[in-house]
Amino acid sequence: MTAITLTVNGERVAAEVEPRTHLGDFLREQLRLTGTHLGCEHGVCGACTVLIDGQPARSCIAYAVACDGLDVRTIEGFEDDAAMAALRAAFSREHGLQCGFCTAGMLIAARDIVLRVPDADDRRIRVELSGNLCRCTGYLGIVKAVASVLADRRTGSPVATAAPAAAAPPARFTPAAPTAAAPAASASAAVLPQSRQGWTRFEESFVIAPPPAAVWAALAEFPTVAACLPGAELTEHDARAVKGRLHVKLGPMAAAFAGSAVIERDDATLTGSAKGAGGDTASRSRTRAELSYRLTPDAGGTRIAVVVEYDLQGPLAQFSRSGLAQELGRRLVAEFAANLTARLTDGTAPATPPALRAGRLFWQALWARLKLLFLPRA
Ligand code: FES
Ligand code: FES
Repeated sequence: MTAITLTVNGERVAAEVEPRTHLGDFLREQLRLTGTHLGCEHGVCGACTVLIDGQPARSCIAYAVACDGLDVRTIEGFEDDAAMAALRAAFSREHGLQCGFCTAGMLIAARDIVLRVPDADDRRIRVELSGNLCRCTGYLGIVKAVASVLADRRTGSPVATAAPAAAAPPARFTPAAPTAAAPAASASAAVLPQSRQGWTRFEESFVIAPPPAAVWAALAEFPTVAACLPGAELTEHDARAVKGRLHVKLGPMAAAFAGSAVIERDDATLTGSAKGAGGDTASRSRTRAELSYRLTPDAGGTRIAVVVEYDLQGPLAQFSRSGLAQELGRRLVAEFAANLTARLTDGTAPATPPALRAGRLFWQALWARLKLLFLPRA
């Protein structure tokens, strides 16, 4: 058993759990918070959705021990929340539920939409809810309920606009960059300043030893880039376009996104971008993504500022907004930087990316959290 301390619905909770216990079971069986429902227990249906550090997350694929020190909010923890009160009334009014099995997760996902995407139209609401499955309603009533709350907020309804601001993304577990380089948000922000509404965005900035000219030349070699990117598989390319697959494994969730991207590079400013789209047929998830980067000289090497924005639709959609996904993205960037450095300095980076490499990264990300168990508390 492992001792954990976390905050659940505003109250500190200390407990002992088996390392294999997922958060959903912990909430239901040890804390008796049975409003969190468990459907598939594979991260697909969204019934078990809760907030972890303010972000919607599936409690069936989050280990309880990984939530040590975090803030968890279940459907029972929204009694004083104006947005949730408005949604509950709207779901009832618009017939947004029948058996109610999906409703707790649906309401938490809906509240996230209301706070995060205030201009969402019906199509956007459906896209945002695509990670939550309902077997009863046909979604019509659910979409109408969310749309009516958004409309109230736009017209200044005092009830609907009294909701608290959306929580900021968790920042406690940002992994170290491959070198001791400090983040340089201003440099990366200059690359891709516009944030698309509803897209997930993360920025990274790190320094590697090779000079900018060598790094710039390497980034023009798409097979080299693919070989350094965990889980990437290049199937086709020319000077400005690539096709391939990205294999991702996150605990029980495995996906292979097949897609294509258009590449642009500016030799004068050492900036580049990739815009692409893809889909995973097994999970029926689709993604659109944009990546921009800028190279600048730094401490005898090269600082690479990267901005990634992506929009994930389908059963994996909700995962894209969890803190763990953000952390995984940062670790992918860190591993890419390490592989690129090795390739440019002594050619030791792997020639082809190992399959499901991101699965190992998932456990690294999880381990980064588990290690906190052994650190002295403030
Ligand atoms: S029970 Fe967690 S996603 Fe289905
Ligand atoms: S109301 Fe029954 S599953 Fe959604």
